[in-house]
Amino acid sequence: MSVDPITVKVTRIHQVAPAIREFTLTPVTTALSAFSPGSHVVVSMQGTDKCFKNAYSLLSDPRDSGAYRIAVLLQKQSRGGSRFMHEQVREGDELTITPPANLFAPLWEARKHVLIAGGVGITPFLSYLPELQRRHADFELHHLFKGDYNGAYCAELAEQLGERYFDYDSTAGRKCDLAQLVNGRPLGTHFYVCGPLSLIEAVQAEALVAGVPDSLIHYEEFSTPQPGAPFEVELKASGRVVPVASEESMLEALEAAGVAVPNLCRGGVCGQCACAVADGEPEHRDNFLSASEKRSGKLVMPCVSRAKGPRLVIDIEE
Ligand code: FES
Repeated sequence: MSVDPITVKVTRIHQVAPAIREFTLTPVTTALSAFSPGSHVVVSMQGTDKCFKNAYSLLSDPRDSGAYRIAVLLQKQSRGGSRFMHEQVREGDELTITPPANLFAPLWEARKHVLIAGGVGITPFLSYLPELQRRHADFELHHLFKGDYNGAYCAELAEQLGERYFDYDSTAGRKCDLAQLVNGRPLGTHFYVCGPLSLIEAVQAEALVAGVPDSLIHYEEFSTPQPGAPFEVELKASGRVVPVASEESMLEALEAAGVAVPNLCRGGVCGQCACAVADGEPEHRDNFLSASEKRSGKLVMPCVSRAKGPRLVIDIEE
């Protein structure tokens, strides 16, 4: 999907947890649109020698198109994007973003919504809340975090949601019993998980034990591409070879070389960036392809996946 970027101005930067900063983005020339709960935008950050592009959930009220708000966790092993947002971006700076896209929308037919957030994974749920409340939906929010690191918005949520909000600060020894959380829910309960893969997998494991069907578990992993060994990607049609450094993704390397690849999530979940593999073996790191598709090696998701060998040949239009 190719989309026109929108220029926005950073009008407020606010530290909301020791490792999380919130950014308010207001329109410069193009008006912002309302969006659906759970939407994200991809923010482009032009560094001195590299353009970083990261997806961030919108946490503002979906009906408020006056400004968008995002929150950025300073990754412990940042490849550059989150560090750029924390250390380089100042109030008054301009950034470009994509229009909102949604891969994690609530299912309004659910009879009850159980939201489970890990750390900065609270952000998409902040855009759910106004709409859940407007619709008088039955919901509860479970928020797992480390108080001295990524515990953001806790006091506001406690005040706003009262007994619908459950906080688990692991630094204070408050653990969440996921088995109890998943078990015995009324028919029609849907579970939404946003956080690290370990949390998503733990909820899925408890749901399996409790006999909760996969179709009732929705998740969004906020992941960024992980580094790996450098390799080369060759474009079959032209024979052009693009080097992929260890700290960059194949998608980033292709974009830097002027090769446009459709993309939406940049985190291996939407399938938009799928490229046909003509030769070489992909190292799959996505959550989109099935196990058999991965075994076949015919497709690769360049936003997160890499090559097992020194070169991967892909067949895409240039
Ligand atoms: S951009 Fe979504 S899977 Fe690659």
